[in-house]
Amino acid sequence: MLSLPRTLSLLTASAVLSTTAYAASFDGQYIHPNLTNTAVEWWWGSAVGTPETPGSPGPVLQFLFYQGYSVLADLNHSTLPEYYITINGFFQNGTDFSLTVPAASGDISEGAGNAVTGTWGTVGAFELSSDMKTMAVTFDAPDAPYGISGSMKFKSNRENHYGCNVTDSPYFGHAKPSHTLSNIEQVFFDQLGWAVSIPGGSVDVDVTINGTRLQFTGNGYHDQNWMPLALNEFISSWYFGFAEIGPYTLSYVSATPLNSSITFNTGYLATDQAVLQNQCSVAGSRTTDVSIIRPVGEMAGAEDTIAPSSWTLSYVIDDGTEYEFNLVPTGVNPTMAVYQRWTGSISGGKKGETSYEGVATFEWLNPGLNVYGSA
Ligand SMILES: *[C@@H]1O[C@H](CO)[C@@H](O)[C@H](O)[C@H]1NC(C)=O
Ligand SMILES: *[C@@H]1O[C@H](CO)[C@@H](O)[C@H](O)[C@H]1NC(C)=O
Ligand SMILES: *[C@@H]1O[C@H](CO)[C@@H](O)[C@H](O)[C@H]1NC(C)=O
Ligand SMILES: *[C@@H]1O[C@H](CO)[C@@H](O)[C@H](O)[C@H]1NC(C)=O
Ligand SMILES: *[C@@H]1O[C@H](CO)[C@@H](O)[C@H](O)[C@H]1NC(C)=O
Ligand SMILES: *[C@@H]1O[C@H](CO)[C@@H](O)[C@H](O)[C@H]1NC(C)=O
Repeated sequence: MLSLPRTLSLLTASAVLSTTAYAASFDGQYIHPNLTNTAVEWWWGSAVGTPETPGSPGPVLQFLFYQGYSVLADLNHSTLPEYYITINGFFQNGTDFSLTVPAASGDISEGAGNAVTGTWGTVGAFELSSDMKTMAVTFDAPDAPYGISGSMKFKSNRENHYGCNVTDSPYFGHAKPSHTLSNIEQVFFDQLGWAVSIPGGSVDVDVTINGTRLQFTGNGYHDQNWMPLALNEFISSWYFGFAEIGPYTLSYVSATPLNSSITFNTGYLATDQAVLQNQCSVAGSRTTDVSIIRPVGEMAGAEDTIAPSSWTLSYVIDDGTEYEFNLVPTGVNPTMAVYQRWTGSISGGKKGETSYEGVATFEWLNPGLNVYGSA
């Protein structure tokens, strides 16, 4: 994709430009992407409903409020809109939809407690309550070529969290290996931020897309990421997923930086009673308090690539108790070689006990264009 010298000089420059940053609110503005830098910050949310027909992917509605670009082929993006909203999903009947709505601005304002309001020009907004228990999202771009209006109302069922069971840092530095790291690995551990304000819960969706009403109550999730560089500048491969299943709320990330032998994992597993796990670690560094996501089997993927036909997600919590889930895709949107986002079914629970069923979203971001083979 990008030539190495350019990547290296950019990394050197960005290490100077961007140091570890913090926002006043948990879900506030952490860094400042603009047209002349390569930084990106986004607020993501998801509603996944139970399909009417088993094996079909809908209903689903997912959004990203963007400042800057998560994947950027040309480092000079001054001719592209800096602020925009991307929306993807599936109607009740399983048909997919995708749209990107540019916005004149992308402003974050932080209120009392952890209240955050995001205003993307006149086309969309989100409002997180001060206790992060509710969030209202509105879309207002009813005219062609966008054709979307309506709202999503989230109700959280869990406490907000960062990735490493700490309350003082949104970065993955707690898992940093002690050996010398490349610039790329350092950006990964010190400057890629993740804040999950709504780990799970429910969401009421009522939107109209090109004249079709999409109305359902589904599982809700909302988080935020930011970084000084587009993901393709420092990530080779990245798996992410989340679900509500039976009593469990779960999410995971498994990532390998570019040109690195490190596999970094973070996993979150919670019930009404307890947070069973909220860990971050490098694969192989320990055997308990770990989460492992494994691709299994093969199927046709995006753009003539091969993709996994299912995934096994394991959590081994601190006391050694194991939980195992199986994720099977029913639909994919977006579908590109660098980024596939599946919706599907999930089953599992505590190993050897009741197996629950649910719906999940899980993705493979593959800027390194790694070739998948199940061998
Ligand atoms: C854009 O960000 C850079 C730092 O990355 C900063 O030097 C510059 O002043 C910013 N420009 C504007 C218009 O805010
Ligand atoms: C980026 O592209 C724009 C439009 O093509 C150009 O005016 C500008 O000089 C370029 N900036 C850099 C830093 O190359
Ligand atoms: C599903 O619904 C969408 C939106 O109304 C419609 O455009 C599409 O044709 C439908 N697909 C099928 C297979 O009925
Ligand atoms: C809505 O309709 C317009 C005009 O036909 C089309 O360009 C656009 O892709 C449609 N949007 C979606 C989300 O299907
Ligand atoms: C996670 O943090 C909580 C709160 O500080 C603590 O009680 C718990 O032991 C931690 N879990 C692990 C596995 O370290
Ligand atoms: C990638 O790895 C090779 C071999 O270890 C090394 O020579 C090179 O400098 C690395 N490149 C980057 C961008 O880290």
